Amino acid sequence: MERLPGFRDFYPEPLPHKDVWSADARQYIFVKWRETARRYGFREYDGPPLEPLELFTLKSGDEIVGQLYNFTDKGDRAVALRPEMTPTLARMVAAHERAYKKPIKWFAIPQLFRYERQQKGRLREHFQFNADIFGETDLAADAELIALLIDTLRSFGLSAEDFVIRLSSRNAWQDYFSARCPDATKAYEFFQLVDKLEREEPEVSESKLKALGFSFEEVNRFIETGEPTPELEAILENLAARGLGEFVKVDYHVIRGLAYYTGPVFEAFDRKGEFRAIAGGGRYDNLVKLISGGKVSLPALGFGLGDVVLLELLKARGLLPRFDPSVDVFVLIEEESLRAQSLGLVQELRSAGLAVEYALTPTKPDKQFKRAQELKAAYTARIEADETVNIRNLKSREAWVCSTAEAVRRLGR
Ligand code: HAM
Repeated sequence: MERLPGFRDFYPEPLPHKDVWSADARQYIFVKWRETARRYGFREYDGPPLEPLELFTLKSGDEIVGQLYNFTDKGDRAVALRPEMTPTLARMVAAHERAYKKPIKWFAIPQLFRYERQQKGRLREHFQFNADIFGETDLAADAELIALLIDTLRSFGLSAEDFVIRLSSRNAWQDYFSARCPDATKAYEFFQLVDKLEREEPEVSESKLKALGFSFEEVNRFIETGEPTPELEAILENLAARGLGEFVKVDYHVIRGLAYYTGPVFEAFDRKGEFRAIAGGGRYDNLVKLISGGKVSLPALGFGLGDVVLLELLKARGLLPRFDPSVDVFVLIEEESLRAQSLGLVQELRSAGLAVEYALTPTKPDKQFKRAQELKAAYTARIEADETVNIRNLKSREAWVCSTAEAVRRLGR
């Protein structure tokens, strides 16, 4: 049986085949995401992977709706696997926002599903670090969020030479659109064309823009002029005060493909332009109101950082550590008559917080020792007939004999 295209198997390292993904690298990434979120005071939340279809058809936009994994469940409900976390989060916040002090700063690491054409950096399932802030209109929140994104990427060893945050403004584009087209229902279609400008053939973009009543040259001139709005200036100043100015640049190519954005928007890219977007986000001040049917209104902003492009970039820059299996102590059982006491020692060492391995079944001593070396054990420990423990440091070769209590005390964490 083969796995479905665009889905991944995660194996412990060393990897058995180039076609599988590293469970260790995934864990490494998740730990860094959680650690940076903690430093910025974000709390973790989660929601259901399966949601009512309507949650996503409401305001995410046609592109993501076309990529939905949706079906009718056995109770005749129209449901979909979540393609993104933001609508779920808006629903959760709207339901219980009163129980939380503002601004609400939350993060999650959801697995998301999009029926996309499989290509470099795009799969049908991926994980995203989502960080969002609710209840704050001040641009200080936008800057704080971008700083979190920068520091998250920096925690992997990436520098300003490796990535850049391209900062833009959905409202600047909204103004551009409104000044030239009276039909507000066409706005999203226009935003989609701008979003695709860098990936689409120029002739195709040109004719599609023309059909909407826009000039390709004029749109490009607007992008090239790139005058930061006062909002963007404020965000840039805030980031510069933190010494993070070199990580951001204003770039109106960015507009974001999703429909709900309302204010400053941004995307993270590798500097060389070899990969798809690493992350994307921005303000979406109307989504909570829309999803709560007008009951709750809260300004909001956030970003999603995917694991697929991030991993490609870390590999390309040689920034992934080695993930060797390692244990603290390998308990050698050379005399089967001492197995019961040895199990007692294993248990005590593990209770003291150590990673402990031993041979589950009778095994020749030299094989046990070889296994200890393969596992890069720091120590071996062996119970003697007189109940003392013989400990050896496998690196320094230093060895000593002591009581079990003393062994636990000296090796324990
Ligand atoms: P998004 O731009 O659709 O935004 O996705 C964010 C990031 O997730 C992308 O930059 C990319 O790294 C990764 N990603 C998206 N689709 C795929 C895929 N098919 N395969 C691999 N990686 C992918 C959102 O999803 C927004 N909900 C983010 C957000 C949160 N905005 C506000 N809060």
